[in-house]
Amino acid sequence: MSGAGVRRRGRRGRSASSARWLQRQHRDPLVRRAREQGYRARSVYKLMEIDRKFRLLRKGATVLDLGAAPGSWSQYAASRGCRVVAVDLLPMIPIAGVTFLRGDFLEERTQERLRGLLDRSCDLVLSDLAPDATGRRTVDRLRSEAAAEAVLAFAGSVLRPGGSLVLKLLHGADSLVVGLARPRFARCRLVRPAATRKDSSEIYLVALGFAGGGEREPEAGSGS
Ligand SMILES: C[S@@+](CC[C@H](N)C(=O)[O-])C[C@H]1O[C@@H](n2cnc3c(N)ncnc32)[C@H](O)[C@@H]1O
Repeated sequence: MSGAGVRRRGRRGRSASSARWLQRQHRDPLVRRAREQGYRARSVYKLMEIDRKFRLLRKGATVLDLGAAPGSWSQYAASRGCRVVAVDLLPMIPIAGVTFLRGDFLEERTQERLRGLLDRSCDLVLSDLAPDATGRRTVDRLRSEAAAEAVLAFAGSVLRPGGSLVLKLLHGADSLVVGLARPRFARCRLVRPAATRKDSSEIYLVALGFAGGGEREPEAGSGS
């Protein structure tokens, strides 16, 4: 199999899928509603539903928004009176009440800068961060798991005791990630908001009541 063959298929696949994406955007009532209500993405309705269920976005809370662009989750959190620190690989048009950092969250230096912007702690971590999909199920699941593990570790280092986490996962990556989250939070729930597209394999982990303890791993026993 030649590399050129792979590239040709890739190019055709991408343009067909962009056309499908555009068509779907035109038909989607939530895209229209988001535009009418001044939100930058339809995904805001997923966060709204999660917030209605779990009451996470409280006035005065400090919120970290990972994978924030184009910014609808940050817009919503700021409109609820939260102080927001947001990060994305892509640029984001400024939002009042949101401090934006452009960078790769998976890099240590970006995480260090985020810690500084947060004054080392926050009440809620939101992650709608999505590594680029390859269309190969196993690769995409492994990437989703790796990103989610990084988010979980970082959340563990900045969340205040009692804090919460909302973390997007691909279905299939959920059992590993929930297993890692469970010992560190009082409650973990998997949620698939109604606004999730039917053909999407996304699911959100909502973890409540962070136990505290910074970056330390949970202790295996009390023998030391
Ligand atoms: C689904 S979008 C987020 C939409 C956002 N919640 C909103 O409501 O506007 C996912 C974002 O994750 C970002 N992303 C993916 N990997 C990232 C990384 N390693 N560091 C920072 N951002 C990343 C992408 O650039 C993309 O903007």
